[in-house]
Amino acid sequence: MNQKKVNVAIAGGGATHTPGIIQALLESRDKLPLNELRLYDIDPKKNDDMYVIIKEMMKQYKIDDVSLTETTDPQEAFTDIDFVFSQIRVGDLEMREKDEKIPLKFGLVGQETCGVGGFAYGLRSIKGLLELVGYIQKYAPDAWILNYTNPESLIAEAVRRQYPHAKMLNACDMTISIEETIARNYGYNRKNWICQYYGLNHFGWYTSIYDKSLHREIMPEIIHKLQEKPMKIASFNAKDPSWQDAWNMLTEILRLFPDYLPNNYLEYYLFPDLVVKAADPHYTRANQVIDGRVKETRELADQIRQGKAEDFDFDFGEHGNYIVDMAASILNDSHERFMLIVPNHGAIPNLRPDAVVEIPAYVGCTGAEPISMREPINDFHKGLMEAQDAAEKLLVDAYFENSYQKALQAMTLNQTVPSADKAKKALDALMEANKEYWPHLK
Ligand code: G6P
Ligand code: MN
Repeated sequence: MNQKKVNVAIAGGGATHTPGIIQALLESRDKLPLNELRLYDIDPKKNDDMYVIIKEMMKQYKIDDVSLTETTDPQEAFTDIDFVFSQIRVGDLEMREKDEKIPLKFGLVGQETCGVGGFAYGLRSIKGLLELVGYIQKYAPDAWILNYTNPESLIAEAVRRQYPHAKMLNACDMTISIEETIARNYGYNRKNWICQYYGLNHFGWYTSIYDKSLHREIMPEIIHKLQEKPMKIASFNAKDPSWQDAWNMLTEILRLFPDYLPNNYLEYYLFPDLVVKAADPHYTRANQVIDGRVKETRELADQIRQGKAEDFDFDFGEHGNYIVDMAASILNDSHERFMLIVPNHGAIPNLRPDAVVEIPAYVGCTGAEPISMREPINDFHKGLMEAQDAAEKLLVDAYFENSYQKALQAMTLNQTVPSADKAKKALDALMEANKEYWPHLK
């Protein structure tokens, strides 16, 4: 095993997911030995709250041979770094709230990564990510960038166009969270699973789950259980009961389309009308997050500053482990298997080669080696994916070409949107709200 000690930077260090990632890092030092940890964020207050929490965490873990720094300066953050974990959120939760609330005004799905709100976030996020990748190319051209920043398909496509040789892997924790929640609900160990899955990011299906310890295919029995009643939120989401709605919708999707286990995010594309009806236009997910984990994080940092912190007891699910395991698989060239967001290049044989797909891949020291599906996918999934992928391509074109027309086409083609009239109204309102962030569309 490679025992080189690595330097890791977290871009978006002030985000509430940082403790989970750090916890995973601290618990994985046998396979990913740590030298330095750096928190980088453009918001010094949030970054410092996190610095205080992580410092305390390291004390509790009795770790004194890893240096921890906080910075708002990209040069300081990335010089000599080996891995950058990106979880930046351009415009922070205040803009997420607008992505969610503005579409609802027009009767459209208001969601951070899906629908017109997701596309609005996309135009902000591409800009921020390209800037970040630019800094890393400048200060640490050999570093690996492991990206969690949303909306991931759009980012993957934009970075590929501007920096085709960037050492970047784009990963989403949703599949692992679905798997972990299923395993905890029904008493499986997902470490024994070999999963076949394909789709776009937040838009895909499992076609097989083989359990090595049971020596058999278990997807049909899982689907059967889910059809009977929705699974419960797992303990790592216990403080956040709103995830229950997502699992309820998973069951709804399976009642109509029982052949494959879907990603729960498909609810926004398959049932946009029901999603809009169930939404509270005055209090969306962004508000829940601001009043929930963001507030708790701030309070925890203040308690620690006042010397009042107790032992933490964190259960973050698989979110942190997933990205840390990926870094370890690169460092040790261990070819573990992950779901990654990559250019198709024939992996799904009957889909355009430049589609940005989410599929399993082996990860080693040269990056991702995606696994071919070998067989063509069915027309239902193909049709849904092609429309969404074309909409995403148009949006990335709109970004690079400053094209209002292409942005309008992208929003109209998005399957959460039933009318070009609504697409235009929402686009105009989102453009106004995003003046500071979007490229100028004309
Ligand atoms: C999942 C998705 C992420 C998304 C997150 C939202 O983990 O994979 O891409 O950002 O859910 O969670 P939140 O609690 O912020 O609504
Ligand atoms: Mn995701």
